[in-house]
Amino acid sequence: MAAAAAVWGRCWSRAWLCRRAGQGCGRHYRAALCAELKQPLAIEEVDPRPVRPHEVRVDVHFCGVNFADILVCHGQYQERPQLPFTPGMEFAGTVLETGTDVSAVKEGDRVIGMSGFNGMAEECVVDHKALWQIPEGVPLREAAALPVSYSTAILALEHRARTQPGETVLVTAAAGATGLAVIDVATNILQAKVIAAAGSDEKCQLAMQRGAHSSVNYSQGSLKEAVRKLVGSGGVDVVIDTVGGDLFLEALRSLAWEGRIVVVGFAGGTIASVPANLLLLKNVSAMGLYLGRYRDQNFPLFSRGLSSAIQYCQQGRIQPHIGAVFKLEEVNDAFLHVTQRKSTGKVLLSLK
Ligand SMILES: NC(=O)c1ccc[n+]([C@@H]2O[C@H](COP(=O)([O-])OP(=O)(O)OC[C@H]3O[C@@H](n4cnc5c(N)ncnc54)[C@H](OP(=O)(O)O)[C@@H]3O)[C@@H](O)[C@H]2O)c1
Repeated sequence: MAAAAAVWGRCWSRAWLCRRAGQGCGRHYRAALCAELKQPLAIEEVDPRPVRPHEVRVDVHFCGVNFADILVCHGQYQERPQLPFTPGMEFAGTVLETGTDVSAVKEGDRVIGMSGFNGMAEECVVDHKALWQIPEGVPLREAAALPVSYSTAILALEHRARTQPGETVLVTAAAGATGLAVIDVATNILQAKVIAAAGSDEKCQLAMQRGAHSSVNYSQGSLKEAVRKLVGSGGVDVVIDTVGGDLFLEALRSLAWEGRIVVVGFAGGTIASVPANLLLLKNVSAMGLYLGRYRDQNFPLFSRGLSSAIQYCQQGRIQPHIGAVFKLEEVNDAFLHVTQRKSTGKVLLSLK
């Protein structure tokens, strides 16, 4: 994907996007638009549509850039929206207008939104159920970094892996958005010990600064051997893997007796097959976590995950790490930043 992304970056300049923006008349707002898969996004002027009774119009201040947004725009994600569409599954902003049936939020309220799409725009109209109030003391910027990464971390560690205090958690792509959220929640909420595995010394250093107990740079050799040196042949209790491929298999082989490995993503581009004998030999469990599916299948749990993250953040128990903030017209640069493995923590778009 990195090579394709480089071509993408070369052929659509930021200047072109800026020229397109600003055209049009009447009240309108700017939105990033995916008109063709695997092509750069364009910034277009969009006419606002009326809000329906159950909907809310939000003035978007910050929108998260997730690896999944990029996959969607490449047609490589589980969900494939009809073209053209505006990506962006999480945002923070203020309520501009509410539909006639909405009472949970009112104009001026600060809210977090977690919807499938449409966040990468100056305005977003969503179902009121896709909004969570931001409490006092939590800035919009930090709030925008919580929804996808922290809900994923909380559901993976607590609901799926049932991580216990004192257990050892190994996390791959540890300096990424999900990775740092896993470190934050595992160490500061669950009192677990984290081994951070990442692709460079700088990323390992950041993961250590953010609370990891030890780290492994997997670009320099076997992850399994490095983990064995750290914890002995006993292994780790929990693995949260966002990379897939051989790294997933090495992580699986690093599990302790009755360990749990949670498949969260395939950032490396390869989906590994699980050798079932490994599950049997040490009584280990391999399980998946797909956050978006909980929205449809178990909304109370989905909502509780994000509400917990908001509460932990307000209490100062967790602190999202924002590695970079891009402007809306720099959205293609932001995507490249992630696909070229340059990002750390959460990457945001600022719409203001
Ligand atoms: N299942 C769910 O509900 C869910 C929720 C959130 C995220 N995810 C998935 O989790 C993964 C991480 O997402 P994120 O948004 O948190 O991204 P991220 O970790 O901030 O960025 C991706 C990281 O993956 C690592 N990576 C390894 N091989 C790569 C490659 N070939 N190309 C690009 N990156 C590579 C890089 O870290 P190193 O350099 O350290 O290897 C990179 O920084 C994605 O696959 C995403 O779809 C799934």
